Amino acid sequence: MPNDAQIKLDGKEISYPIITGSEGEKAIDLRKLRADTGYIAYDQGYGNTGSCESAITYLDGDNGILRHRGYPIEQLAEQSDFVETAYLIIYGELPNQKQRLSIGRLLRQNAAIDTQMLRIFEGFPREAPPMGMLTSIVSSMAAYYPHLATNNFEKDLANFDLTAAMAISKIRTIVAGIYRYRHGLPFNYPKDIPFCDNFLHLMFSEPYQEYALIPEVTRALNLILLLHADHEQNCSTSTVRMVGSSGANLFTSLAAGICALSGPLHGGANSAVMQMLQSIHDEGDDGTRFIAAAKSGAKGNRLMGFGHAVYRNYDPRARIIGHACDVVLNKLGKTDPLLDIAKRLEHSALNDEYFLARKLYPNVDFYSGIIMRALGIPTELFTTMFAIGRSPGWIANWKEVASNPKGRIYRPRQVYVGPVKRDYVLIGKRT
Ligand code: ACO
Repeated sequence: MPNDAQIKLDGKEISYPIITGSEGEKAIDLRKLRADTGYIAYDQGYGNTGSCESAITYLDGDNGILRHRGYPIEQLAEQSDFVETAYLIIYGELPNQKQRLSIGRLLRQNAAIDTQMLRIFEGFPREAPPMGMLTSIVSSMAAYYPHLATNNFEKDLANFDLTAAMAISKIRTIVAGIYRYRHGLPFNYPKDIPFCDNFLHLMFSEPYQEYALIPEVTRALNLILLLHADHEQNCSTSTVRMVGSSGANLFTSLAAGICALSGPLHGGANSAVMQMLQSIHDEGDDGTRFIAAAKSGAKGNRLMGFGHAVYRNYDPRARIIGHACDVVLNKLGKTDPLLDIAKRLEHSALNDEYFLARKLYPNVDFYSGIIMRALGIPTELFTTMFAIGRSPGWIANWKEVASNPKGRIYRPRQVYVGPVKRDYVLIGKRT
């Protein structure tokens, strides 16, 4: 492999170093390009730009590989749980027994939200979209816990363990609170029980009846959250890094990430998949109409849950969730006509030249909604569930930014294509 790359510009030839990642990924270090030549690299949407070096997650979209801190997602899904994987992603190693106990305790001790924060919930209309509520309430954490959110990396990192545990645990509690509030149900207080069990209790316990935990449900919830825990430099994670690079505290950076997640092309896709499957079901269609519409090329007609900005192969998370759907429904003794529709749709798409030629395969969202539905989580909450799951990845990425002594503010450039210089025209003389 060469050590550098040559660029010939305006009669000059300049060398740029090659950087190689630990899995052999190659990059040309163009940091000096503008200073050397006056040119910038144009890469709309950053699809070809390495914005950072990161030691958290390795993703090979061509071969459908996803590893956190070196561990394959398939092994983590099979043998780990959400909290352990969150620890791995944030701290770089699987926890030993003492560390596992300690992180579990910290999460339980910091599960409750400030009672004053409940007033924020009350300010929202009952029908407020959950992601809108979540962004606001998470962003308010910087105001409720200002001693942990000083916008000074050194001080914020000194309290990092606590702040990170608070963020993960409270985001989970807030999501359940949003559900209770929107349905006019009394809030539940967290208990001294494991993370996923606590979520189910916060969501579904009633004053007259405690939620009865079912091991299969807890396991499925762990799986869903674990599979969302990190995914390299996706839109929301890059947003967290960008906001964090300005020196912003963890809570504020997370709120920005949640905003980015809300879009239908990112975290909003899981509920869009369910709406699509439901429409097919209601219309008694076999999916043919949706596939034909998706092939028209119009963005509004895409087959939701298909395609990925990075995977040009089967998303390994989709394979795991697709399989888990059968297992979970079976264990719970449930059937779901939407699962049958999803499978038929997948089969048709995977045998269709349009999807094959464009390397469009199911992504993580294609089946995740079916499992969440089986667990009793309503569609309106799906994207907020994604936010709970993704919180360790966002936190780990914020930590990398905050701990980098050579870090600088993220500030991309642009190619300006607006009007060239012109003189101000008085209002009376404008046409
Ligand atoms: N259905 C139909 N056609 C599609 C789909 C789809 N889901 N996705 C991409 N295409 C087509 C495009 O129309 C384009 O066709 P063309 O080459 O004839 O113009 C081609 O495939 C390439 O599409 P791009 O837009 O370049 O793909 P990109 O990598 O930019 O987009 C994205 C990726 C946004 C995920 C896209 O596939 C999509 O919109 N999928 C549906 C939404 C979805 O499921 N999002 C969840 C992503 S996973 C996550 O965020 C957790």
